[in-house]
Amino acid sequence: MNSENISKKILHWYDNNKRFLPWRKKVSKKQREYFTLVSEFMLQQTQVKTVIPYFINFINKIPDLDNLAKIKDSILMKCWEGLGYYSRARNLKKTAIRITNEYRGRLPSTIEELKSLPGVGDYTSRAIMAIVFNKKMIPLDGNIERILKRVFYLRKENEISKQHLNNKKSFFGTTNRSNDYVQAIMEIGALICKPYHPLCFQCPLSINCISFKKNDFEVKIKNKLNKTKYFEAIIYQNKNKYLLVKNDKFNFLKNMPIFPMTEVKEKKYKNSNNKKINIKLSNMDMKIILNKINKLPKIKNKILLKKNHTQSTILPSFTKKIFSSVSKI
Ligand code: ADE
Repeated sequence: MNSENISKKILHWYDNNKRFLPWRKKVSKKQREYFTLVSEFMLQQTQVKTVIPYFINFINKIPDLDNLAKIKDSILMKCWEGLGYYSRARNLKKTAIRITNEYRGRLPSTIEELKSLPGVGDYTSRAIMAIVFNKKMIPLDGNIERILKRVFYLRKENEISKQHLNNKKSFFGTTNRSNDYVQAIMEIGALICKPYHPLCFQCPLSINCISFKKNDFEVKIKNKLNKTKYFEAIIYQNKNKYLLVKNDKFNFLKNMPIFPMTEVKEKKYKNSNNKKINIKLSNMDMKIILNKINKLPKIKNKILLKKNHTQSTILPSFTKKIFSSVSKI
């Protein structure tokens, strides 16, 4: 089967099965740029179903790029609260400012220029090139990787490297509907070629798929060593106020309010009799000692937050998780 037929089959399936997603709404070219930029930033580390309500709320509150470039940080962060990876929101605003100042409010249309924008990497620049500018490009996201791994039955560590998977993308061929094509392939990954229980009998690619022929659908995931790190968090409470700090120390949750923390040795963690909690971040398993103290420590960037303000304040879920454990100490 040649690749022209592959693209025809995929687009035919998409035309009959695509979901209505708010960023796929028919809008002007300028709005398409804005919708794609916002949705692709949100979708970088978050699933479609989680993103949908955030995207709708974001567009209601911040309807276009000019508004985004001028938005108050507090409103921006409130719109992002709960989505996590807050650097995405800060980068999104920085990108809007750059586009306003350097490109008169319109997205640049080369990969190089797009990649020079804050928070726009290889994946997002390719997604924008295809979706906004209809260029023949296919970004490699988790959904597309999974399809390739199944179609070619890729099992070995060297076969599932980014480089090898990028080479295998030629399987999809090209079409003059690149803007739909990228989303069509992602959609097959999300709805048909699911991580578990793929729906092969509805899949337009099953006759091209080695995993289907072998009836073996396991998907090999790259060995990602998730490091465990140990921390001690200081819990200081005065009446109904808790001590937090603006984080300028750790790379995760930059500038967000967190409980004051230091990294500690495994031994100290194991020997501590204090209450402990585990929090999984995408790249690290955190094991945290909750150390209650009675004296306000001398630290900079202090925030004293009233307990009943924890819902109305912009807090990362990381801090909220510690709050809910702390209230039980
Ligand atoms: N994941 C990343 N970008 C997407 C898009 N435009 N549609 C669906 N899923 C996506």
